[in-house]
Amino acid sequence: MRRDFSQTEIVPENYSLLIAEQTICERLEELGAQIAEDYAGTKPILIGVLNGGFIFLADLIRYINIDLEIDFIRISSYGDARESSGHIKVLKPLSADIKDRAVLVVEDIVDSGLSVQFLENLMSAFGPSMLRFATLLNKPSKRQVDIKIDYIGFDIEDKFVVGYGLDDAQIKRNLRSIYVVG
Ligand code: IMP
Ligand code: MG
Repeated sequence: MRRDFSQTEIVPENYSLLIAEQTICERLEELGAQIAEDYAGTKPILIGVLNGGFIFLADLIRYINIDLEIDFIRISSYGDARESSGHIKVLKPLSADIKDRAVLVVEDIVDSGLSVQFLENLMSAFGPSMLRFATLLNKPSKRQVDIKIDYIGFDIEDKFVVGYGLDDAQIKRNLRSIYVVG
């Protein structure tokens, strides 16, 4: 029997629950099945975007029942601010060679879309055979650029969210559910 462990010690009073752990888990099962079907026969490389995407990548790959590889990239645009500065730098480059490989970039959240646009330009220059994007969360109302996201966990409103990899000034990534900061 799984013990109830609501993490009350680290959920501040001004946080409200947006997406519960169980709901995330059920959605990952659906996304994983779809990705496995779409990437069948390709042995894809899934690229987690650090830091926020690490938990989503770790959980998602366990629902993708085909052989795959992983890699990570780290980019910066926000610092500790809550709005995109628009200036994006690569802080940790890819390790893998993605030329002629099927690639799926795994983001925590797409907001302005500037990060995805930057990553698409960067990665397409390496000549992958297939390049798609997955995000756990999507804020469509915040979009500044026209980008295509192939796999979306949940569309959400324009609220600042934390948990499940997403941070509030670097902490709270270890919350298992997703919360709105009030
Ligand atoms: P974009 O370039 O504006 O689409 O920014 C996407 C990045 O901003 C994400 O990968 C997150 O790191 C960060 N971000 C955007 N919205 C939130 C939020 O509500 N909570 C935490 N991080 C966020
Ligand atoms: Mg991010």
